[in-house]
Amino acid sequence: MSGIDQRRKLVDGLTEESFLSGFGNEHSSESVAGALPHGRNSPQRAPLGLYAEQLSGTAFTEPRAHNRRSWLYRIRPSAAHPAYVRTDNGRLRTAPFTETAPDPNRLRWNPLPDPAPGTDWLAGLWTLGGNGDVTQRTGMAVHLYHANASMERVFSDADGELLIVPERGGLLLVTEFGLLPARPGEIALVPRGVRFRVELLDESARGYVCENYGQPFQLPDLGLIGANGLANARDFLAPAAAYEDVEGPVEVVNKFCGNLWTATYDHSPLDVVAWHGNHVPYVYDLHRFNVIGSISYDHPDPSIFTVLTSPSDTPGLAGVDFVVFAPRWLVGEDTFRPPYFHRNVMSEYMGLIEGAYDAKAAGEGGFVPGGGSLHNMMSAHGPDRETFDRASSVELTPQKVDNGLAFMFETRWPVIATGQAAKADHLQKGYDSVWQGLERHFRPQ
Ligand code: FE2
Repeated sequence: MSGIDQRRKLVDGLTEESFLSGFGNEHSSESVAGALPHGRNSPQRAPLGLYAEQLSGTAFTEPRAHNRRSWLYRIRPSAAHPAYVRTDNGRLRTAPFTETAPDPNRLRWNPLPDPAPGTDWLAGLWTLGGNGDVTQRTGMAVHLYHANASMERVFSDADGELLIVPERGGLLLVTEFGLLPARPGEIALVPRGVRFRVELLDESARGYVCENYGQPFQLPDLGLIGANGLANARDFLAPAAAYEDVEGPVEVVNKFCGNLWTATYDHSPLDVVAWHGNHVPYVYDLHRFNVIGSISYDHPDPSIFTVLTSPSDTPGLAGVDFVVFAPRWLVGEDTFRPPYFHRNVMSEYMGLIEGAYDAKAAGEGGFVPGGGSLHNMMSAHGPDRETFDRASSVELTPQKVDNGLAFMFETRWPVIATGQAAKADHLQKGYDSVWQGLERHFRPQ
C-alpha cells in the first residue's frame, strides 16, 4: 500500500468520537493509560517516566477568558535539541512587508502554478503579502501553498498561529497533540509554537494560510444573536493524543521572526504521550457554519459571516477576521441581494474553495478556486456588471445560494504585496475591467 493509501485508511477509520470537541475547552487526552497526572501539572516524577512541559500561547497573566496554555507529557523535553542554524526562507516572507509600495489597486491572482516534483507543504508555501510587525506580534500574512510531497521534516512557527484553508487535496496534520485530518471545506488551526508535519492524503494539495501574528483566533461574541449560531463551539475538534517514538535524525524547522532555522534532532519531537490544556490545534467543517442573514430586506454586513476573530486592543476592531460565504438562502424583499458596492476601512483578501462566488462571474480569468483577490483599505469594489444587471432585475423569489464556498481574511491594516506577488505571472492583468460597462442610469429631466 502506498503512503497515501495507508494514510487514507487511517483517516477513514476516524470518527467524530475520535476527537475532542469544543472550542477553547480544557481538553485532556492520553494515548497510554496512566500517562496523564491527575491533581497536579508537574509532579516530582511525571507518570511513566515522561517529562512534563508547559507550552504557553498567551502571557502567564492574561485574563482567564483569554489564557491559552497546555501541559505536555513527552518522551523527551523540547529543550533537548542542538543549536538551530539559518536555512533558506524559500518563498516565505514576513512582516513588516517592505518589498513593494502599498497598492490602492484592486488585485486578483490565478491559482499558484504547479510545484516542482518533491515539493512538500513547507517548501510549497508562497507569501502573497500581509501587514503589521512580527516582532510586535501584530498583523498577519496571507500565504498560499501548492505541494506534491509529504513532509518528512517537522515545522513550528514561533511567529504566529496558522489557519490553514485547504482548497484541493486532503492534509493529515501530524502534530504534537495528535493526528488531525483537514480536507477541502474544512479549516485547520495550528497554534503558535506547536510542532507538526503535513502529510498528503492526495497526490497534491493546494490551499491558503492566514498566519496570524496577533491575538489567537477566538469565536466572535454573538450579542443579540443569542447563545447559539454562526460557528458553534462544539463543532471544533481537537486531536486525541498520539505520539511517535522515533530515534534517529529528524529535521526540525523553526520559523522565528521571519526567518527559517533548522536543526537535526536525534529523535522525533512529536513524542507527546499525553496532554491537557486549551492551546491546541483544531479542525472545523465550514459546512457546519450556521449562516444568519436577513429575513426581511437588505444584505447584512458580511461581519455576520465571521467564523473566527483575532481581536485587537480596540473593542470591535479585529486584527484579522476569518469570514466564510457558505451556502444559504436569500429571501430579502426589494433588495439587491449580492454583496453591495462598498469601500471599507478594513482590507479584504478573498479566496475561493469551491464553485463560484455570488458577486463575480466564474470561469477562466475570473475568480476561480485556488485564486484570490485583494481589495485594500478604501478601494472600491462590489459586483461585476453582469451580476449587477441580473440582480437588479431578477424576480425576487427565495433563492438558495449553494454553488460555492468562498472566504475572506479581513484585516485592520492594508495587505502589502510581496515582490513575488506583485510580479507574479499568475497576477491577472486588467482586473479593473470587471467594473467596466456599468452604465449610467441617472437621467434627470
Ligand atoms: Fe468587500
